[in-house]
Amino acid sequence: MSIFNISILNINIYNIHISYIHIFNINIFNISIYNTSILNIHIFNIYIFNISILNIHIFNISILNISIKNIGEKLMGKVISIANQKGGVGKTTTTIEFGCLLSGKGKKVLIIDFDQQSNTSQSLDCDLKKPTIYDVMTAKANVLDAIQNIREGLDIIIGSLELSKADRDFTDHDDFFILKDITDYLKKTYDFILIDNAPAKSITGTMSYVAADYIIVPTDVDDNSVTGIMEVNKDIQKYKCGKRPISDAEMVLILLTRCEHTTALHQALLDDLEKLSDTLEGKPLVLPIAKSIAASETKRYNLPLMDYEPKCGAAKDYVIAVDKFLERIGE
Ligand SMILES: Nc1ncnc2c1ncn2[C@@H]1O[C@H](COP(=O)(O)OP(=O)(O)OP(=O)(O)O)[C@@H](O)[C@H]1O
Ligand SMILES: [Mg+2]
Repeated sequence: MSIFNISILNINIYNIHISYIHIFNINIFNISIYNTSILNIHIFNIYIFNISILNIHIFNISILNISIKNIGEKLMGKVISIANQKGGVGKTTTTIEFGCLLSGKGKKVLIIDFDQQSNTSQSLDCDLKKPTIYDVMTAKANVLDAIQNIREGLDIIIGSLELSKADRDFTDHDDFFILKDITDYLKKTYDFILIDNAPAKSITGTMSYVAADYIIVPTDVDDNSVTGIMEVNKDIQKYKCGKRPISDAEMVLILLTRCEHTTALHQALLDDLEKLSDTLEGKPLVLPIAKSIAASETKRYNLPLMDYEPKCGAAKDYVIAVDKFLERIGE
């Protein structure tokens, strides 16, 4: 590390907690910082490699309540939870399309089917005799033995009816971190880990929020779509804030599925969701996914939409959604 000519005046820093910083090869020249006051910075697990900073001048900075976690994740995989407690809103369809499209872009992707219905596992024609995510969580199987390959760049760990017992089996506070422990281990191998969730409020949902870096909320067109998003937001905020934050997840996308762009009702709902997004932390992008018959037909053939009918509206909208998602997270 070489640092030259740094002058820092009048900095007041309170309550900084920093753990596990690994910094290699930093070259910083001519930094001047004046009148800075920084309160409540929490930094965990920063990995910085090869940073060069030249001629930075920062004056009169006040930073309050910054929480930086896992900056080194840029070098590791991201966990995306596809969540909504409402049933039938397109979580599984979104998980499968995102999985196939991201792997089609050369990314290494793992889907975790975290729903006792195991719809994703069935739709992708998996070997249902292989170990499940529940087997991994209960240490009945090694995580590597549970991974099965679907197509180039796309793997899955299947779901299981036994996930319905999770609320009974996992009752300790530490249990919230079981899925995160698994995904943290796998982040070294995968660019993206997608978690398809059950339409229910349960400990598996909490585990999923704790493991997630990003959350995508599909919603459908009805009077309760705003309520479903608010519920997810309430949960995220509950786990992110408070005395012992256990989640760092950020809601990045709201997908209005089965959308008929041309109808005034759906356009009005899109507008409502945009307004709602403005009130949410991080202002998630609101995108429509067209209603397409092909989306329900593909199930019979165990094919993702992008293979079954790539020209249908929904398939095209998922291509846009994946591009915007990558743009949004800076990939
Ligand atoms: N864009 C779309 N156009 C038409 N039908 C769709 C679209 N997206 C999903 N569907 C259909 O809607 C139904 C519900 O979708 P999906 O299974 O993805 O929802 P889900 O949120 O995972 O449901 P659950 O809460 O039960 O897990 C399925 O039959 C699916 O084929
Ligand atoms: Mg589903």
